Amino acid sequence: MTAESMKQTAATEFTNPNLSVLYSADDIKARIAELGAQITADYRGHDLVLVGVLKGSCVFMADLMRAIDLPMTIDFMSVSSYKDGTVSTGDVEILKDLSNPIRGKDVLVVEDIVDTGLTLTRLLEILGSRGARSIKLASFLDKPEPRIKKELNVDYKGFVIPNEFVVGYGLDAAGRYRNLPFIGIVKNPAEA
Ligand code: IMP
Ligand code: MG
Repeated sequence: MTAESMKQTAATEFTNPNLSVLYSADDIKARIAELGAQITADYRGHDLVLVGVLKGSCVFMADLMRAIDLPMTIDFMSVSSYKDGTVSTGDVEILKDLSNPIRGKDVLVVEDIVDTGLTLTRLLEILGSRGARSIKLASFLDKPEPRIKKELNVDYKGFVIPNEFVVGYGLDAAGRYRNLPFIGIVKNPAEA
């Protein structure tokens, strides 16, 4: 059997032996319930809109919103970060803007992961000029080690992780693995 055909048949995607589980679906479920309860308490009486940053936040967004027991709305943005090689430059292009104005609203930006913080910092600057009553940040993962924007505050975070490249639960490697119900580390990226 060739290496190429092994890739197709050796395992299902969810049991891929090249992945090691960092947070299981149960770990994630328990943590999201806590985050949702905290956000519910903090935003009671406010005009909350969750703004998901596509595509990575889609799974977190879907779970988090169902853990927030308040009247609220959602919206989405899609941005592309310009990379200089593998390093984010901090320049951000809006690929899809919000559908509705955020003037007077309490905005909670929902992200998959904060790494260097360059993308989020620029996005928060852009949203900051639109007259929202407040803007805060919820990120499923916080990877503080590579942070360039040290002053960026992650108001709500699911898990703080080591400086490893992780996939699953919305996060991808070249578009793959977003559908994994857990967070995993790709053991050998060359074999992915
Ligand atoms: P930064 O904070 O500007 O460096 O960019 C954060 C973005 O890079 C995230 O929204 C992800 O799309 C991507 N990213 C950073 N670290 C990882 C990782 O470990 N796995 C998958 N995507 C990542
Ligand atoms: Mg992202």
